[in-house]
Amino acid sequence: MLEDPLRYDAPVDPAAIVIFGATGDLTRRKLLPALFRLAYERRLPAGFAVVGVSRTAMSDDAFRERMRDAVAQFLEDTPFDEELWAGFARGLFYLSGDVQDKNLYSRLKQKLEEVDRERQTAGNALFYLSTQPSHYAPAAAGLGGAGLQQGAGWRRLIVEKPFGHDGPSAAALNRGLREVFNEDQIYRIDHYLGKETVQNILAFRFGNGIFEPLWNRRYVSHVQITAAESIGVEGRGAYYQEAGALRDMIQNHLLQVMATMAMEPPAAYEPDAVRDERAKLLRAIRVWTPAEAAENAVAGQYGPARIGGADVPGFREEPGVDPEAQTGTYAAITLEVDNWRWAGVPFYIRSGKRLPKRVTDVAIQFNRAPLAMFEAGAGRMQETYPNLLVLRIQPEEGISLRFFSKQPGSGMRLRPVTMDFNYGASFGARSPSAYETLLLDALKGDATLYTRQDMVEASWAVVAPVLEHWSSVKHDFPNYAAGTWGPEASGRLLARRGHEWRMP
Ligand code: BG6
Repeated sequence: MLEDPLRYDAPVDPAAIVIFGATGDLTRRKLLPALFRLAYERRLPAGFAVVGVSRTAMSDDAFRERMRDAVAQFLEDTPFDEELWAGFARGLFYLSGDVQDKNLYSRLKQKLEEVDRERQTAGNALFYLSTQPSHYAPAAAGLGGAGLQQGAGWRRLIVEKPFGHDGPSAAALNRGLREVFNEDQIYRIDHYLGKETVQNILAFRFGNGIFEPLWNRRYVSHVQITAAESIGVEGRGAYYQEAGALRDMIQNHLLQVMATMAMEPPAAYEPDAVRDERAKLLRAIRVWTPAEAAENAVAGQYGPARIGGADVPGFREEPGVDPEAQTGTYAAITLEVDNWRWAGVPFYIRSGKRLPKRVTDVAIQFNRAPLAMFEAGAGRMQETYPNLLVLRIQPEEGISLRFFSKQPGSGMRLRPVTMDFNYGASFGARSPSAYETLLLDALKGDATLYTRQDMVEASWAVVAPVLEHWSSVKHDFPNYAAGTWGPEASGRLLARRGHEWRMP
């Protein structure tokens, strides 16, 4: 009998996780805190180790010290337990070396053998590429050169984003990885798929009988997907200048969210059944012609502003950024899906840095009632406040439905009200971070929440005409002030189809 059927999980094999880029930001901020949190929840296997790999010369102990500081700083909602840390830290090891250097991999092989003996990791290894992207292919080749892609146990490879900077480079990267690893060994991470609220979209749609019948072109007017961030580029100016908002957020995270929201029901909740449906949806998104791309996308870049009494620099003033940079820190795009469910329903997607607040949500706006039979002016009211279902991804995780209700008093006066589900209030428990979920899944060999090459390529195809158009024009940047909702032109994108951005 299961103690708590909601917490049932497949057992996790013993394993070593090898992190390339062990002194980087992601390791410090996300990976180690996630692993420590899993240790806190007793969800890691007894035979567990982490081998950090990076160029900086450092002993195992120095690495442990460094990771201790990181975990203490970035662990959220969990007390830092010294005793637990001491046990966890014994499983941390370090190897210094250059990813481009072939010798690194024979040394890694030896280190893994030592670690395996000491920690009993059963020969299983999960390689995590969290380096700069140009090192992904050399690292895979190095691992292959030393025969590390196979061993006494299973071998898996996690690849961080960005997965290429366009379709051809993504395909080339994939060829490099596939020379060494089989597709079923490769886990392409998109941390948005690991978010509880994104997973819950599937629970909401396919675990209930009442929403799916409405989930189509007959009832849905349009969909808005927003990922707003109030932060700027946070010291990542050089990376971001090359990427921009469309590549950084939309090509990967938001298209995956859209696919989750719009895909057909899978035959089973199994990795390939789910991924097949996501991939099909992505392939059904219409690829704009260059002229259509110009009409259906808007780029923005923030300029300086004074926010809350403090001066906030414009993007072009950020460290590492070219003062004439043509990079968009805001992108909005209209997409259409050419399938029977969604034909004619626009999907509006926007994302930006330095917007007024941090909020990510999916808003499904329904067609209004065919008649406005109540008080005078009800028609206008229904147009202004149509039925709206909002899937709140973050930060206030939940779901709300807006509908009309009779105002108390005589007469039939209507007012929009909302019915609200809030994760915190309903479950009273902390949600695991995306990285906790995804790391555990990779250890279990469950790729459901990882992307596949066909999905990556379909997503690049969707954004390619827009990227191409943007690189061929000179933008009049900056075109929005830090702390505002993006450039004015983004409103016109929706106005063309008679719609309006909602205020999240
Ligand atoms: C990353 C982007 O993939 O996602 C960042 O590179 C962005 O620019 C981040 O800030 C947003 O993730 P989250 O989980 O904070 O919404």
